[in-house]
Amino acid sequence: MQFPHGGRPPRSVLTISFLGCGRAGRVLGHLWHRGGVFRIGQVLTRSPDSAADAVRSIGGGTALDSPAGLGPADVFLLATPDRHIADAAAFLSGSRAIAFHLGGALASALLRETGLEGPVASIHPLHSFGDFTQSVRNFDGTWCACEGDDAALEVLQPAFGAIGGRTFTIDADRKLAYHAAGVMVSNYLNALTAAGIDAYGLAGIDRGTASALIAPLLRNTVENIVDHGPGAALTGPIARGDWQLVEAELATLRDLDPALAEIYRVMGARTLELAGTRDDLDPDDRARLGAILGIGP
Ligand SMILES: NC(=O)c1ccc[n+]([C@@H]2O[C@H](COP(=O)([O-])OP(=O)(O)OC[C@H]3O[C@@H](n4cnc5c(N)ncnc54)[C@H](OP(=O)(O)O)[C@@H]3O)[C@@H](O)[C@H]2O)c1
Repeated sequence: MQFPHGGRPPRSVLTISFLGCGRAGRVLGHLWHRGGVFRIGQVLTRSPDSAADAVRSIGGGTALDSPAGLGPADVFLLATPDRHIADAAAFLSGSRAIAFHLGGALASALLRETGLEGPVASIHPLHSFGDFTQSVRNFDGTWCACEGDDAALEVLQPAFGAIGGRTFTIDADRKLAYHAAGVMVSNYLNALTAAGIDAYGLAGIDRGTASALIAPLLRNTVENIVDHGPGAALTGPIARGDWQLVEAELATLRDLDPALAEIYRVMGARTLELAGTRDDLDPDDRARLGAILGIGP
């Protein structure tokens, strides 16, 4: 037998279809299409317009306007919001194709419960798909938590690897704790930053100026945490044992904005625990700080 392209057999490329294709689905689809990892099949969302939009972002595939038009594929990605994955999977009931979802908190077994008969998996990229262009640029190096059937993972792990994903396996029974961890590290950083911007407002600094002021500080802090770990990278009044300053700041916030004061106190208590892992905090200062922040000795 003879093959074109240097005599090698053509690589068999599997077809992937999307049920739901928003922030995460479009980026993954684009990267797989661009890299020739999967052939893009059909794209079904809630509206024909958004399906057409998703196909444009991906650069390939066919937009569907109704589940009735769904045809066969080798792989189905259920990329709806978590609460709609089961509804969307019901359209595939009886399918023997590989099916997977991207939810970090839900087990892949959910897909089997909806009547799918093929291998199922879940692959959760630890990535914030907030901006299409930025995610396409930065996906390389993203860790992806996997669990599910071997027959699905044997196909999906290399497919994520081919676009720069770094796959690792997690225990399906502990996904809620796993996902809660990511919520704290990623989403709560947004909330804490927003609280900080509100606190700058109490000092008469407008939001635009505050956002500009904190940009280098945030980047520097994140880089130090990544390089040295949260305890070793910790600076500031709690790490220095400056309980007088912490007491005064808490009192000021309580006067001006009790809700912000509570965030300052709760996060301060956790920061004190972190500072306690180092040996440069004086025990008396530590005890004073504990009392101010409402935690025991
Ligand atoms: N966003 C992230 O940063 C991120 C990170 C890691 C994992 N994930 C996971 O990725 C999955 C998708 O999240 P996302 O942020 O990409 O969601 P999204 O941007 O809200 O997009 C959801 C997509 O699902 C479609 N959809 C909603 N309900 C549907 C239904 N019942 N049937 C068919 N399609 C439906 C939407 O249609 P329309 O376009 O018509 O609205 C949209 O295309 C979730 O499991 C999430 O946990 C997300």
